[in-house]
Amino acid sequence: MIHPLVIGNWKLNGNLHFISTMVSILRQSIGSIQNCKVVIAPPMIYLGQVKQAIYNSAIELCAQNVDLHISGAFTGEVSSNMLKDIGAKYVIIGHSERRLWHAETDYVIARKFYILKKEGLIPVLCIGETELEHQEGRTKEACARQIDVILSLQGAEAFNGVVIAYEPIWAIGTGKSAHPDKVQEVHEFIRTYIAQKDAKKDSFVTIQYGGSVTSKNIMGLCAQPDIDGVLVGSACLNPESFIDIIRLAVKQKSSKMF
Ligand code: 13P
Repeated sequence: MIHPLVIGNWKLNGNLHFISTMVSILRQSIGSIQNCKVVIAPPMIYLGQVKQAIYNSAIELCAQNVDLHISGAFTGEVSSNMLKDIGAKYVIIGHSERRLWHAETDYVIARKFYILKKEGLIPVLCIGETELEHQEGRTKEACARQIDVILSLQGAEAFNGVVIAYEPIWAIGTGKSAHPDKVQEVHEFIRTYIAQKDAKKDSFVTIQYGGSVTSKNIMGLCAQPDIDGVLVGSACLNPESFIDIIRLAVKQKSSKMF
């Protein structure tokens, strides 16, 4: 059976009250879940608080960002070893909101990828095309371009054990989720693209989809063989809808023998 990976990206949302309510509801219903990897990504300042709240449960911790440097005079930044120290397991990098609002380039993201791997943290590398690239049929080209920098600097083997989140930019926060058949096509392309460059051919990459995921479209998405899970934004801020997404993802994946 395939265990889906469901990550809730809180983005710039939440406070101490939200954390205690959210985590206590999650703990009650999916706190000891075995057939799904459930991960939450709160804002950086609350990582420690959330780590305490999820203690002794199956829920795991993800950070939304990391700095390029390990230590030194970099005011306002957080390093990979600090994230490891606090108990994070996954770290989102390359999110389109950071590429857009914080001018992160593919090279900067590749460097973050390298640093996380070195520290033993799991990068959740977000890639995806713009609305224009989508309209012009350049989705695969855009995804390949975002992967290429890492492939050329670190090789395909570096992708082993990593999570890639395919997040078409036009689908984020718009309510316009990409069609599952189209997502499957892109995921299959990403997997093959990396595998072709992997000399040993034994790397396993988890590929999630993100972009307006809800309890209404999760079954269709998880019916696809190359969709290994989802990266959820808005819908993860409501505990009931996040739990529904997790339950339906498990239901769909457990009924499939890919
Ligand atoms: P939405 O689910 O709100 O579209 O956000 C997706 C996302 O960006 C997750 O990282």
